[in-house]
Amino acid sequence: MTNPQPAENLTWHKHKVSRGDREAANGHRGATLWFTGLSGSGKSTLANEVAFALHQRGARTYVLDGDNIRMGLNRGLGFSPEDRQENIRRIGEVAKLFTDAGVLNLTAFVSPYREDRAAARSLQPEPGRFIEVWVKADVATCASRDPKGLYRRALAGEITGFTGVSADAPYEEPHDAEIVVETARHSVPECVSQILSELERRGVIPPVQS
Ligand code: ADX
Repeated sequence: MTNPQPAENLTWHKHKVSRGDREAANGHRGATLWFTGLSGSGKSTLANEVAFALHQRGARTYVLDGDNIRMGLNRGLGFSPEDRQENIRRIGEVAKLFTDAGVLNLTAFVSPYREDRAAARSLQPEPGRFIEVWVKADVATCASRDPKGLYRRALAGEITGFTGVSADAPYEEPHDAEIVVETARHSVPECVSQILSELERRGVIPPVQS
């Protein structure tokens, strides 16, 4: 199932309304903010807070969240390396569609494997289109937060293949993330402003007019 080839006899149809047209209407570029990090590191919290701040500024936003997507589009996929690869492959494609729609899309998936993140990035090679945000927090911090009680169960051996806990489920730290936020050292508002400043610096969103 991983990286399947497209069917034969397909023809790509060009859109009459272009991404540029949609971006002009929106007043900003389409881009993916790819949040990656351990379960409990703060990905969903930050993706939602950044989306809220961007929305307040009038931007078109959408959050794609691991747990939610696994209940619908990616229902049936588990946590083996192959299933995670397929999970991330599909989300990489969905994120690309949202960017093409001119939307600032924020994805919150553990996405533990460097190769899978690189594959998602390769779908949007233009500078400023795919911005990886490493939500950095060590396992001990995430386990002490344990918002879903999963670390307790993983440490008790009730969940196997749990990222960062099980020997066969490593988290491969990013080497090329555009933004690194340290949620054990900084508050949520501090991390949000760090991300927004970085988006302004990179020209993804216009600076706030004072
Ligand atoms: S990913 O590895 O394929 O990117 P994804 O972000 O979709 O993972 O889902 C991770 C979420 O699923 C976690 O936040 C947690 O709530 C839940 N989960 C359940 N089992 C596991 C597991 N074995 N490893 C990691 N997360 C798990």
